[in-house]
Amino acid sequence: MELKSKKVKEGLQDIIACKTGICRIEVEEDRGILEYRGYAVEELAERSTFEEVAYLLLFGELPTKSELEAFSEELKELRELPPQIIGLLTNLSPFSHPMVVLRTAVSYLGTMDKHIHYRSHDVSIAKAKSLIAKFPTIIAYFHRIRSGQKLIHPNDELGHAANFLYMLKGEEPEKIEARAMDVDLILHADHELNASTFAARIAASTLADIYACVVAATGTLMGPLHGGASQKVIEMLREIAVPWRAEEYVKMKLERGERIMGFGHRVYRGVIDPRTLVLKRLAEKLARVKEPKWYQISLAVEDAVYKYKKLYPNVDFYSASVYANLGIPDDLFIPVFAISRISGWTAHIIEQYENNRLIRPRALYVGEACRKYIPLEERE
Ligand code: CMC
Repeated sequence: MELKSKKVKEGLQDIIACKTGICRIEVEEDRGILEYRGYAVEELAERSTFEEVAYLLLFGELPTKSELEAFSEELKELRELPPQIIGLLTNLSPFSHPMVVLRTAVSYLGTMDKHIHYRSHDVSIAKAKSLIAKFPTIIAYFHRIRSGQKLIHPNDELGHAANFLYMLKGEEPEKIEARAMDVDLILHADHELNASTFAARIAASTLADIYACVVAATGTLMGPLHGGASQKVIEMLREIAVPWRAEEYVKMKLERGERIMGFGHRVYRGVIDPRTLVLKRLAEKLARVKEPKWYQISLAVEDAVYKYKKLYPNVDFYSASVYANLGIPDDLFIPVFAISRISGWTAHIIEQYENNRLIRPRALYVGEACRKYIPLEERE
């Protein structure tokens, strides 16, 4: 194959790398469309729960009432961590970033799975359920351990989202908090071939075990151009501190050629990310009953970025105000994304296993070619 005649698509922009039945993103003239298995994300955010969405992503259909009850029960039974993992969380440096801890714990879970290399549909689904159930516990336990607080074990009376907040903070969340967490988890559950999901699918295409695929995805999510943006957003809001400073801050950053975190998107170019609209309403709702300043500063930043750069906020922008008002520590913002996206990652890994071809693109070599080897003693 003559590679020189081919054009490099930097960042694989607009390259279609695989088929999927999990998530549909379209950009129409004036709006972005996002559907999970054909269902609009806005409607799921309005009417569904994270458990129902995770079921939908994994199995392709909305569950019946009894299927959902059984699935939710299974997740509850799988929430608790083996003592070895609690030991690991205790031994890791309390100063480690929780995303580093998460990927280490996933890898450790792999060492404890006797059937790590089994990839049949049912076995993969069972592993996916276990990971979905355990992600919130890993994060909440690590946070309690690092801050010298006693562990709060999972509460079977609570759904996935509410239980996470309960394990993290040691008290049952208010209704508005539990629902906000649930909606946020629904909105982050999947997003087609985002970088972390692509990393998971590349690993799956080599037929690597599911833990290896999830470790690849977890590592990739952490980068500031991907899920890491949400933590950067709250750091920016804290730095700005008051709404009237937002414009001057944005202008200064842009003049220096820096990016404003939580803005821009590879796919939603010139249109707003549909998840942002839901999250913005959620942030506003929380701002009315909790601390209003995060939402107020965010509004001012949104206006300024549009004024100077004509960019829209992405999913990571208003999530920051939501998490801040849910009392989630800044460095747990990315893990919260992972707690949700594990459902999408595992659905994609299973889809890749079941219709697999090794993902192995090419690179155009731009270095010097056919060089003559010079023995060490003759080199100057
Ligand atoms: N701040 C300032 N300028 C920006 C930003 C931004 N956040 N995003 C894009 N631009 C500019 C960029 O400089 C370029 O301008 P120009 O044409 O004048 O050179 C133009 O917009 C097009 O940008 P691009 O580099 O072609 O965009 P990309 O598709 O390669 O990158 C992105 C997409 C998300 C990495 C980028 O928008 C970005 O760095 N955003 C900030 C980080 C962020 O919020 N990431 C979260 C992404 S969405 C959810 C997720 O994946 O977690």
